[in-house]
Amino acid sequence: VTEPDLAGRHVVVSAGGTREPLDPVRYLGNRSSGKQGYALARTAAARGARVTLIEANTGIPDPAGVDVVHVGTAVQLREAVLKAAADADAVVMAAAVADFRPATYAEGKIKKKEGEEPAPVALVRNPDILAEISADRPRPDQVVVGFAAETDDVLAHGRDKLRRKGCDLLVVNEVGERKTFGSEENEAVILGSDGTETHVPHGPKEALADTLWDLIAPRLV
Ligand code: PMT
Repeated sequence: VTEPDLAGRHVVVSAGGTREPLDPVRYLGNRSSGKQGYALARTAAARGARVTLIEANTGIPDPAGVDVVHVGTAVQLREAVLKAAADADAVVMAAAVADFRPATYAEGKIKKKEGEEPAPVALVRNPDILAEISADRPRPDQVVVGFAAETDDVLAHGRDKLRRKGCDLLVVNEVGERKTFGSEENEAVILGSDGTETHVPHGPKEALADTLWDLIAPRLV
């Protein structure tokens, strides 16, 4: 039986990967399936929380007992997260957010022209939602958690990212073409801004989610 230790709490979870359109047909995207974020939403609901799940491009059916907001791009994700976070006790950013988006959107499908080199794609920076919410919390007691998807030197990059983003906890997981993305399992180190390090062994994404809520629950005031 799961302890209802998040009863009366409102938590916001983001899941999936943003898609940044080039034209009506193509986009820049990433390999996030949303499974880790959905596991966080389901486990929080099982522990009694009111959950707002903001999902980008997962195609996963809405979990029972969870409010789901569907978005496509990083800009839309930011808007939905900021709105839901206004009264939230905790915000967990498990979504893979594109750091850049195409500078322009072509209303019609971009055509290839015979004998011409392809035009380079100009990019502009997307807002950093995690850094923004960490720096400017809608509630001063809000707990803010990020994920770091790294391919090499995971812990060093994770520690640096925790500092730069300013969140309370950072879940550092290693990713690759066939690692973590889309898999039922994950393995991570959860870094705390207070210097703590919690190693979560390889196992179901639900287990990692529950360990994270175990660390978040005592931080809620
Ligand atoms: O979805 P799955 O297939 O289950 O895979 C899970 C996962 C690998 C996607 C997930 O566990 C994970 O690591 N999510 C974060 C992916 C990511 O975007 O990492 P990052 O290192 O680029 O970003 C660090 C943090 O900043 C993240 O919390 C991200 O949500 C946030 N961010 C990033 C860029 C940006 N412009 N705004 C942000 O808020």
